[in-house]
Amino acid sequence: NAPKILAFAGSARKDSWNKKLVAIAAEGAAMAGAEVTHIDLRDYPTPLYDGDDESEYGMPANVLTLRQLMLEHQGLLLASPEYNGSISPLLKNVIDWASRPAPGSNGPSPFSGKVATLMSASPGGFGGLRGLVHVRAILGNLGVIVLPEQLAIGSAHEAFAADGSMVSDKQRAAVAELGAGQARLLAKLLGVTLSTGC
Ligand code: FNR
Repeated sequence: NAPKILAFAGSARKDSWNKKLVAIAAEGAAMAGAEVTHIDLRDYPTPLYDGDDESEYGMPANVLTLRQLMLEHQGLLLASPEYNGSISPLLKNVIDWASRPAPGSNGPSPFSGKVATLMSASPGGFGGLRGLVHVRAILGNLGVIVLPEQLAIGSAHEAFAADGSMVSDKQRAAVAELGAGQARLLAKLLGVTLSTGC
């Protein structure tokens, strides 16, 4: 009964800095004892939300899968790129689709009561920090408890090595601790004891 955390980046790009970042935080959460499902949105392509398509064809299969994955996890570990000071269109589109009621169901929202931890990485100086303000507001509107702890990694092209690891041990430890902190908080909220891998 370990806390379950769904981890993904709001980028489909193969060499995405945000994918590398969320992988390190996910590892930290897993080491702290959470059950982490780490997915790549590239594996779940979704059309741009269109109300007419939704009426005619219903929810795309990948949206139903992502929605179900969210329902099955208590935590969301998210790394969002910053596009023009805001959320990436990919992440916003996934959130918009998943926020729609599932066909023929009055079932639970995949967002309400979830606990989310946010991070971002960017080649720029602010590391995508301005975008996180918007991600936080969007998720907050959907009833997600967005934790105050967050990290924005600037100069991402210098912060990560070619193999996806972080150049600075101190920075790597801070990212892993962000994931671990979420695992510990979720365990506390759920009243379960973590069995750690370290
Ligand atoms: C960007 N990028 C960017 N970076 C930033 O720090 N602040 C910004 O406002 C923007 N705006 C922006 C707009 C658009 C349309 C693009 C394509 C890019 C740069 C962005 O951080 C960079 O492309 C990252 O590499 C994207 O994240 P991933 O894909 O590496 O995870």
